[in-house]
Amino acid sequence: MSIAVIAPGRDRSKWIAYFERADPSINVEIWPDIQEPEKVQCALVWKHPIGELLKYPNLKFIACMGAGVDHIIQDPKLPKGVPITKVVDDQLSKDMSIYVIQGILNNQRRFVDHLHARERGEWLNSHRYPEKMNIGILGLGVLGQDVASKLVTLGFDAFGFSQTKKEVIGVSCFWGKDQMAEFLNSINVLVCMLPLVDQTRGFLNKDLFARLNKGTYLINVARGEHLVDEDLIAAIDEGQISGALLDVFHEEPLPKDHPFWSREEIMITPHNASVTDPKSVARQIVDNYHRIETAEPFKFVIDREKGY
Ligand code: GLV
Repeated sequence: MSIAVIAPGRDRSKWIAYFERADPSINVEIWPDIQEPEKVQCALVWKHPIGELLKYPNLKFIACMGAGVDHIIQDPKLPKGVPITKVVDDQLSKDMSIYVIQGILNNQRRFVDHLHARERGEWLNSHRYPEKMNIGILGLGVLGQDVASKLVTLGFDAFGFSQTKKEVIGVSCFWGKDQMAEFLNSINVLVCMLPLVDQTRGFLNKDLFARLNKGTYLINVARGEHLVDEDLIAAIDEGQISGALLDVFHEEPLPKDHPFWSREEIMITPHNASVTDPKSVARQIVDNYHRIETAEPFKFVIDREKGY
Protein backbone atom coordinates (compact mmCIF):
# COMPACT_ATOMS: atom_id res chain seq x y z
CA MET A 1 0.00 0.00 0.00
CA SER A 2 1.27 3.50 -0.68
CA ILE A 3 0.92 7.27 -0.67
CA ALA A 4 1.14 8.92 -4.10
CA VAL A 5 2.41 12.51 -4.29
CA ILE A 6 0.74 14.17 -7.27
CA ALA A 7 1.92 17.77 -7.39
CA PRO A 8 3.15 18.88 -10.81
CA GLY A 9 5.77 21.62 -10.60
CA ARG A 10 6.21 21.42 -6.84
CA ASP A 11 9.29 20.19 -5.04
CA ARG A 12 8.34 16.70 -3.89
CA SER A 13 11.68 15.58 -2.48
CA LYS A 14 11.01 17.11 0.94
CA TRP A 15 7.74 15.19 1.23
CA ILE A 16 9.55 11.91 0.61
CA ALA A 17 12.14 12.78 3.26
CA TYR A 18 9.58 13.80 5.89
CA PHE A 19 7.29 10.82 5.20
CA GLU A 20 10.36 8.64 5.68
CA ARG A 21 11.08 10.40 8.95
CA ALA A 22 7.47 10.06 10.18
CA ASP A 23 7.25 6.38 9.26
CA PRO A 24 10.02 4.64 7.32
CA SER A 25 7.75 1.70 6.51
CA ILE A 26 5.49 3.79 4.26
CA ASN A 27 5.86 3.34 0.54
CA VAL A 28 5.75 6.68 -1.32
CA GLU A 29 5.26 6.97 -5.08
CA ILE A 30 5.82 10.15 -7.04
CA TRP A 31 3.65 11.17 -9.98
CA PRO A 32 4.08 10.76 -12.95
CA ASP A 33 6.10 7.58 -12.23
CA ILE A 34 3.49 5.69 -10.28
CA GLN A 35 4.38 2.01 -10.61
CA GLU A 36 1.47 0.39 -8.80
CA PRO A 37 -1.67 2.56 -9.00
CA GLU A 38 -3.82 -0.17 -7.45
CA LYS A 39 -1.77 0.07 -4.23
CA VAL A 40 -2.28 3.81 -3.77
CA GLN A 41 -4.53 4.49 -0.77
CA CYS A 42 -3.72 8.15 -0.22
CA ALA A 43 -3.11 10.75 -2.91
CA LEU A 44 -1.37 13.89 -1.68
CA VAL A 45 -2.23 16.44 -4.32
CA TRP A 46 -1.63 19.97 -5.47
CA LYS A 47 -3.15 21.00 -8.81
CA HIS A 48 -3.29 17.43 -10.08
CA PRO A 49 -4.15 16.77 -13.75
CA ILE A 50 -7.92 16.55 -14.29
CA GLY A 51 -9.16 12.95 -14.12
CA GLU A 52 -5.87 11.66 -12.66
CA LEU A 53 -7.47 10.55 -9.40
CA LEU A 54 -9.75 8.08 -11.19
CA LYS A 55 -6.68 5.96 -11.92
CA TYR A 56 -6.39 4.75 -8.31
CA PRO A 57 -9.12 2.18 -7.65
CA ASN A 58 -8.25 1.71 -3.95
CA LEU A 59 -7.96 5.35 -2.96
CA LYS A 60 -9.15 5.83 0.62
CA PHE A 61 -8.59 9.59 0.91
CA ILE A 62 -7.33 12.57 -1.05
CA ALA A 63 -5.03 14.80 0.99
CA CYS A 64 -4.79 18.38 -0.19
CA MET A 65 -1.27 19.74 0.12
CA GLY A 66 -2.58 23.10 1.29
CA ALA A 67 -5.44 24.77 3.09
CA GLY A 68 -7.56 25.62 0.03
CA VAL A 69 -9.09 22.60 -1.70
CA ASP A 70 -10.62 24.44 -4.68
CA HIS A 71 -8.15 22.87 -7.14
CA ILE A 72 -9.41 19.43 -6.11
CA ILE A 73 -13.13 20.24 -6.04
CA GLN A 74 -12.90 21.81 -9.50
CA ASP A 75 -11.98 18.44 -11.04
CA PRO A 76 -15.20 17.20 -12.69
CA LYS A 77 -13.74 13.68 -12.75
CA LEU A 78 -13.18 13.32 -9.02
CA PRO A 79 -13.72 9.81 -7.64
CA LYS A 80 -17.07 9.78 -5.87
CA GLY A 81 -17.32 9.30 -2.12
CA VAL A 82 -13.58 9.53 -1.40
CA PRO A 83 -12.98 11.88 1.56
CA ILE A 84 -10.84 14.96 0.97
CA THR A 85 -8.68 16.35 3.76
CA LYS A 86 -7.06 19.77 4.03
CA VAL A 87 -4.02 20.98 5.93
CA VAL A 88 -4.63 22.49 9.34
CA ASP A 89 -1.27 23.45 10.76
CA ASP A 90 -0.04 25.96 13.33
CA GLN A 91 2.92 26.93 11.18
CA LEU A 92 0.65 27.58 8.17
CA SER A 93 -1.65 29.73 10.34
CA LYS A 94 1.24 31.60 11.89
CA ASP A 95 2.85 32.37 8.53
CA MET A 96 -0.47 33.63 7.17
CA SER A 97 -1.14 35.81 10.19
CA ILE A 98 2.32 37.35 10.09
CA TYR A 99 1.96 38.09 6.38
CA VAL A 100 -1.42 39.78 6.79
CA ILE A 101 -0.31 41.77 9.83
CA GLN A 102 2.84 42.85 8.04
CA GLY A 103 0.72 44.00 5.08
CA ILE A 104 -1.52 46.01 7.40
CA LEU A 105 1.42 47.60 9.21
CA ASN A 106 3.25 48.41 5.98
CA ASN A 107 0.17 50.22 4.81
CA GLN A 108 -0.47 51.94 8.12
CA ARG A 109 3.12 53.15 8.53
CA ARG A 110 3.58 53.87 4.80
CA PHE A 111 6.74 51.78 4.48
CA VAL A 112 6.50 51.73 0.68
CA ASP A 113 6.29 55.53 0.55
CA HIS A 114 9.32 55.71 2.79
CA LEU A 115 11.19 53.30 0.55
CA HIS A 116 10.46 55.49 -2.46
CA ALA A 117 11.34 58.62 -0.50
CA ARG A 118 14.65 57.04 0.41
CA GLU A 119 15.38 56.45 -3.29
CA ARG A 120 14.84 60.18 -3.81
CA GLY A 121 16.90 61.04 -0.73
CA GLU A 122 13.79 62.64 0.73
CA TRP A 123 13.01 62.88 4.45
CA LEU A 124 9.31 62.14 4.17
CA ASN A 125 7.99 63.97 7.17
CA SER A 126 4.86 61.98 7.61
CA HIS A 127 2.99 60.96 10.65
CA ARG A 128 -0.15 60.45 8.65
CA TYR A 129 -1.64 57.11 9.26
CA PRO A 130 -5.31 56.53 9.46
CA GLU A 131 -6.53 57.62 12.87
CA LYS A 132 -8.08 54.20 13.40
CA MET A 133 -7.63 50.97 11.53
CA ASN A 134 -10.56 48.62 11.69
CA ILE A 135 -9.60 45.36 10.09
CA GLY A 136 -12.27 43.19 8.51
CA ILE A 137 -11.55 39.53 7.95
CA LEU A 138 -13.79 38.11 5.27
CA GLY A 139 -13.97 34.38 6.03
CA LEU A 140 -13.48 33.07 9.54
CA GLY A 141 -12.04 29.64 8.84
CA VAL A 142 -9.02 28.35 10.74
CA LEU A 143 -6.67 30.86 9.09
CA GLY A 144 -9.10 33.79 9.29
CA GLN A 145 -9.70 33.20 12.99
CA ASP A 146 -5.98 33.07 13.68
CA VAL A 147 -5.37 36.40 11.93
CA ALA A 148 -8.32 38.02 13.70
CA SER A 149 -7.19 36.80 17.14
CA LYS A 150 -3.61 37.94 16.61
CA LEU A 151 -4.84 41.38 15.49
CA VAL A 152 -6.83 41.66 18.71
CA THR A 153 -3.71 40.77 20.70
CA LEU A 154 -1.90 43.61 18.93
CA GLY A 155 -4.64 46.03 19.90
CA PHE A 156 -6.38 46.41 16.54
CA ASP A 157 -10.14 46.49 16.25
CA ALA A 158 -10.89 43.27 14.40
CA PHE A 159 -14.13 42.44 12.63
CA GLY A 160 -15.00 39.13 11.09
CA PHE A 161 -17.58 37.99 8.59
CA SER A 162 -18.65 34.42 7.95
CA GLN A 163 -21.54 32.69 6.27
CA THR A 164 -22.63 30.95 9.44
CA LYS A 165 -22.36 32.25 12.99
CA LYS A 166 -18.86 32.16 14.49
CA GLU A 167 -17.47 33.50 17.72
CA VAL A 168 -13.87 34.62 18.15
CA ILE A 169 -12.81 36.20 21.44
CA GLY A 170 -12.36 39.96 21.11
CA VAL A 171 -13.53 40.04 17.47
CA SER A 172 -16.78 41.69 16.39
CA CYS A 173 -18.32 38.86 14.41
CA PHE A 174 -20.95 39.30 11.71
CA TRP A 175 -22.62 36.59 9.74
CA GLY A 176 -25.12 35.99 6.99
CA LYS A 177 -26.28 38.33 4.21
CA ASP A 178 -28.23 40.60 6.59
CA GLN A 179 -25.13 41.57 8.57
CA MET A 180 -22.84 42.12 5.60
CA ALA A 181 -23.63 45.86 5.31
CA GLU A 182 -22.78 46.51 8.96
CA PHE A 183 -19.53 44.55 8.59
CA LEU A 184 -18.50 46.52 5.50
CA ASN A 185 -19.43 49.83 7.17
CA SER A 186 -17.28 49.07 10.18
CA ILE A 187 -13.93 48.58 8.48
CA ASN A 188 -11.22 50.38 6.53
CA VAL A 189 -9.05 47.35 5.74
CA LEU A 190 -10.63 44.31 4.10
CA VAL A 191 -8.75 41.00 4.16
CA CYS A 192 -10.14 38.29 1.89
CA MET A 193 -9.68 34.84 3.39
CA LEU A 194 -12.66 33.14 1.79
CA PRO A 195 -12.68 29.64 0.38
CA LEU A 196 -13.08 29.61 -3.40
CA VAL A 197 -16.48 28.19 -4.31
CA ASP A 198 -19.10 29.20 -6.90
CA GLN A 199 -20.71 31.71 -4.52
CA THR A 200 -17.42 33.48 -3.73
CA ARG A 201 -15.91 33.59 -7.22
CA GLY A 202 -15.65 37.26 -8.24
CA PHE A 203 -16.91 38.35 -4.81
CA LEU A 204 -14.39 41.21 -4.67
CA ASN A 205 -16.09 43.25 -7.38
CA LYS A 206 -17.33 46.78 -8.03
CA ASP A 207 -20.59 46.25 -6.13
CA LEU A 208 -18.75 45.15 -3.02
CA PHE A 209 -16.17 47.94 -3.33
CA ALA A 210 -18.98 50.51 -3.60
CA ARG A 211 -20.36 49.32 -0.24
CA LEU A 212 -17.03 49.85 1.55
CA ASN A 213 -15.90 53.05 3.28
CA LYS A 214 -14.04 55.30 0.87
CA GLY A 215 -10.30 54.62 0.89
CA THR A 216 -10.51 51.07 2.23
CA TYR A 217 -7.32 49.05 1.76
CA LEU A 218 -7.67 45.53 0.31
CA ILE A 219 -5.61 42.44 1.07
CA ASN A 220 -6.27 39.24 -0.87
CA VAL A 221 -4.56 36.11 0.39
CA ALA A 222 -7.27 33.67 -0.71
CA ARG A 223 -7.47 33.04 -4.46
CA GLY A 224 -7.06 35.26 -7.52
CA GLU A 225 -10.51 34.20 -8.72
CA HIS A 226 -12.14 36.03 -5.81
CA LEU A 227 -11.16 39.32 -7.39
CA VAL A 228 -12.44 41.04 -10.52
CA ASP A 229 -9.14 42.61 -11.53
CA GLU A 230 -10.53 45.45 -13.66
CA ASP A 231 -12.97 46.42 -10.88
CA LEU A 232 -10.06 46.82 -8.48
CA ILE A 233 -8.21 49.11 -10.89
CA ALA A 234 -11.36 51.20 -11.41
CA ALA A 235 -12.00 51.39 -7.64
CA ILE A 236 -8.41 52.57 -7.06
CA ASP A 237 -8.78 55.19 -9.81
CA GLU A 238 -11.94 56.45 -8.12
CA GLY A 239 -10.26 56.51 -4.70
CA GLN A 240 -12.84 54.06 -3.39
CA ILE A 241 -10.02 51.59 -2.67
CA SER A 242 -6.77 53.23 -1.54
CA GLY A 243 -4.54 50.34 -2.52
CA ALA A 244 -4.10 46.61 -2.30
CA LEU A 245 -1.75 43.88 -1.25
CA LEU A 246 -2.28 40.84 -3.48
CA ASP A 247 -0.67 37.45 -3.01
CA VAL A 248 -2.90 35.48 -5.38
CA PHE A 249 -3.87 35.95 -9.01
CA HIS A 250 -6.04 34.48 -11.77
CA GLU A 251 -2.89 33.39 -13.52
CA GLU A 252 0.31 32.62 -11.60
CA PRO A 253 2.98 33.77 -12.16
CA LEU A 254 1.18 37.04 -12.88
CA PRO A 255 1.71 37.70 -16.62
CA LYS A 256 4.30 40.39 -17.34
CA ASP A 257 1.78 42.57 -19.21
CA HIS A 258 -0.84 42.51 -16.45
CA PRO A 259 -1.96 46.05 -15.51
CA PHE A 260 -1.35 45.38 -11.81
CA TRP A 261 2.41 45.57 -12.38
CA SER A 262 2.23 49.21 -13.35
CA ARG A 263 0.14 50.31 -10.36
CA GLU A 264 2.12 51.74 -7.46
CA GLU A 265 -0.87 51.32 -5.17
CA ILE A 266 -0.80 47.56 -5.65
CA MET A 267 1.77 45.50 -3.80
CA ILE A 268 2.38 42.08 -5.35
CA THR A 269 3.81 38.97 -3.72
CA PRO A 270 4.21 35.60 -5.48
CA HIS A 271 1.60 33.47 -3.63
CA ASN A 272 3.98 33.05 -0.73
CA ALA A 273 1.89 34.36 2.15
CA SER A 274 1.77 30.92 3.68
CA VAL A 275 3.13 27.80 2.04
CA THR A 276 2.72 24.29 3.46
CA ASP A 277 5.93 23.10 5.09
CA PRO A 278 6.34 19.31 4.63
CA LYS A 279 8.41 19.21 7.80
CA SER A 280 5.44 20.45 9.78
CA VAL A 281 2.66 18.67 7.86
CA ALA A 282 3.92 15.20 6.76
CA ARG A 283 3.07 13.78 10.17
CA GLN A 284 -0.64 14.67 9.94
CA ILE A 285 -0.89 13.01 6.51
CA VAL A 286 0.81 9.89 7.91
CA ASP A 287 -1.49 9.96 10.92
CA ASN A 288 -4.52 9.99 8.61
CA TYR A 289 -2.96 7.25 6.49
CA HIS A 290 -2.72 4.99 9.55
CA ARG A 291 -6.40 5.66 10.26
CA ILE A 292 -7.17 3.54 7.20
CA GLU A 293 -5.98 0.46 9.12
CA THR A 294 -7.66 1.40 12.40
CA ALA A 295 -10.86 2.55 10.62
CA GLU A 296 -10.86 5.76 12.71
CA PRO A 297 -12.38 8.84 11.05
CA PHE A 298 -9.89 10.98 9.13
CA LYS A 299 -8.90 14.35 10.57
CA PHE A 300 -9.54 17.65 8.74
CA VAL A 301 -12.05 16.27 6.23
CA ILE A 302 -13.76 18.97 4.17
CA ASP A 303 -17.42 19.03 3.23
CA ARG A 304 -17.53 18.15 -0.46
CA GLU A 305 -20.96 19.74 -0.87
CA LYS A 306 -19.83 23.07 0.55
CA GLY A 307 -16.43 22.87 -1.15
CA TYR A 308 -14.36 23.71 1.95
C1 GLV B 1 -2.29 27.89 -0.45
O1 GLV B 1 -2.70 28.62 -1.30
C2 GLV B 1 -3.08 26.95 0.26
O2 GLV B 1 -4.25 26.76 -0.07
O3 GLV B 1 -2.56 26.35 1.22
